[in-house]
Amino acid sequence: MTETLICKKSELQDGDRRIVAIDKDEVGVFLHQDRYYAYSNTCLHQGGPACEGLIIAKTEELLNDDKTSRGLSFSKDQTNFVCPWHGYEYDLKTGECDSDRRLKLRSYQVIEKAGDLYVVS
Ligand code: FES
Repeated sequence: MTETLICKKSELQDGDRRIVAIDKDEVGVFLHQDRYYAYSNTCLHQGGPACEGLIIAKTEELLNDDKTSRGLSFSKDQTNFVCPWHGYEYDLKTGECDSDRRLKLRSYQVIEKAGDLYVVS
């Protein structure tokens, strides 16, 4: 297993991300609600930089009992990052594509050692 230095822990604030090169891949590292998440930066659609776009709450459609729409709302529970090429959205906590949960970015472990953060690959 290889540990690749990301940055000092103090340099990453909640809501931040870093892109690091690992072997022939790039990895996007996120700090979200006091937890670290790391995913391949290669989008499962056409290889765009999946981790480099917007970070936004999932948009949800609110339905009436008869399934007619009451409009759209932002999720309080799910945050997505959006590939900037064509808009594939990935669940920040799982790396799964929001529109097709069978598609999932490769994930990596993030560890802390002596105040530094590393991606394990
Ligand atoms: S390459 Fe990412 S959405 Fe198309």
